[in-house]
Amino acid sequence: MELDSISSNMKWETAVLGDPLAPMRNRHSVLTEPVSYLLETGGKKLRALLVYASAQMGSYRDNDLARAVAAVETLHLASLVHDDLLDNSHLRRGFTTVNHRWGSGTALLVGDFLYARCFALLQPLGEQVMTVLLDTIVDMVEAELKQLTYQKNLHTEYQDYLAIIKGKTASFISACCQIGGLIGGLPPPSISWLNRFGYNLGLAYQIRDDTMDYALTDSSRGKPTGSDLRQGTVTLPLILYLQKCSPDARAEIDSLFRSNSPPPGQINQLCSRIRDSGVLTDCSQLVNDYLDQAAECLESLPIIPVLYQLVDYLRLDSSSLTPNN
Ligand code: FPP
Ligand code: MG
Repeated sequence: MELDSISSNMKWETAVLGDPLAPMRNRHSVLTEPVSYLLETGGKKLRALLVYASAQMGSYRDNDLARAVAAVETLHLASLVHDDLLDNSHLRRGFTTVNHRWGSGTALLVGDFLYARCFALLQPLGEQVMTVLLDTIVDMVEAELKQLTYQKNLHTEYQDYLAIIKGKTASFISACCQIGGLIGGLPPPSISWLNRFGYNLGLAYQIRDDTMDYALTDSSRGKPTGSDLRQGTVTLPLILYLQKCSPDARAEIDSLFRSNSPPPGQINQLCSRIRDSGVLTDCSQLVNDYLDQAAECLESLPIIPVLYQLVDYLRLDSSSLTPNN
């Protein structure tokens, strides 16, 4: 089952995604054009789904849920606009990025606008919800900074990688689950299980994404294979490959990272060598282990079928990534 159909099975109330950016309608086109473009080219709404599904465990006011869902999606958009700016990416979800289409200044300011909108939406939801999201933003910024310091660093350890993905992805995914639970009025032990569920799901989600970046071309991703390698971002497949490759192979990666614009052929060749080394099987195993832990957390919470479907959807079958192994 695809993520889109999991979401559509949720029977979203029309209010849920509503029109979170209505206040900007009369603003200048330098703002409305890129923001509308971002909304039109919107992604999978995973974070919205998590807030929504977690709130279903309790009872909530429709308006609170609509605000919370819109706030997390707005923050997610802000973070991606800034991330693409930092990475100088040209493509996201199969569409030209804001930085590439309108320039880096616009991307910076559009991200700031979305970030401010997120807090305008959140404010009426109270201090607890606000604190969860504020803590997450600190985690995300700190992790992105840490990721920058480890850029092109062949000595990056597994623990460094784990700390980075915990902060940049798992913290936010966990926050969405907790916020849903808070909106639903769940008791503290359930919020704590939602927190753990979200962390495990988020770690699985990011390791999956990093693994897919080395997998065979997958047109559904909307970004080119080998992007992390091209940008010098050291993720799990490369960390594991470096642990077992020859000194010559290591030296080659070192020289690729020193080059300002490595030839695409060399990136593709290296991706294919990393695939052939079998490390994607280990990455898939880790994804599935974190998903098992996420599923275990669900056993202590009211049953919401879509969350089980989501866990199953994210499972990785390594044979589909490395057909030769
Ligand atoms: C995408 O991951 C990026 C993130 C998960 C976090 C980005 C966070 C920031 C830029 C800092 C916080 C900013 C705000 C406004 C709160 P990725 O780079 O692994 O994925 P990708 O390959 O799709 O780019
Ligand atoms: Mg990125």
